Amino acid sequence: MDWREGAKKRAALEAVKHVQEGFIIGLGSGTTVAHAVQEIGEKVRLEGLRVLGIPTSHQILKLAVNCGIPLTTLDEHPQLDLTIDGADQVDGKLNLIKGMGGALMREKIVASATKQLVIVVDETKLVEKLGVNQPVPVEVLPFASSIVMTKIRELKGKPVLREGKNKVGPVMTDNGNFILDVNFEAVDDPGELDVKLRLIPGVLETGLFVGMTDVVYAGGRTGVQKLLRE
Ligand code: A5P
Repeated sequence: MDWREGAKKRAALEAVKHVQEGFIIGLGSGTTVAHAVQEIGEKVRLEGLRVLGIPTSHQILKLAVNCGIPLTTLDEHPQLDLTIDGADQVDGKLNLIKGMGGALMREKIVASATKQLVIVVDETKLVEKLGVNQPVPVEVLPFASSIVMTKIRELKGKPVLREGKNKVGPVMTDNGNFILDVNFEAVDDPGELDVKLRLIPGVLETGLFVGMTDVVYAGGRTGVQKLLRE
């Protein structure tokens, strides 16, 4: 296992310590959260832990089912106790860029409905400023994608339509939409940019998660840093 995989797993195991009996848990997406889902599954199977999960993508839905975690929906449980999710970048205020796995819209909806949002990353994701060497993913309605790209250029962003791997043409999200990866070089005010992007008709959600995170566990080569929102 390379050190980053070990670091991701260590961070994920710390996050799982927040899980309590009876919790409704938002299950984020990506490779780091996958370690947390596997650990929760072990506790369900081996220790009889009773929790219900709400997955944010087909990736994590399938993994949760395979791990034996009972699932529920936002219709049945509109308030979640805890959400564990990954991130692509984390700044000093615990603002995030998310969405390189394409699950940002459901992730933000679930994060908005949770009492506690715990983020798990390896320490290479910790940055001074969001957006440096990292595009901001933006989910858009396919019908509007061309005019959204034009309006994003007016905000000084450079949008690229995300293309599929082993599939020709654009990636379709789990919601049937496109993703634009937008290079801003650096994001000075993530909250302001998030609002400006979301005001463009056809933009469905952005990967900027501002003021939502409660705790970050960042795994390193040996230990795990715990970062709390001030
Ligand atoms: C999914 O769309 C993303 O928001 C992921 O949570 C993020 O890309 C982190 O993924 P990894 O844990 O695989 O790096």
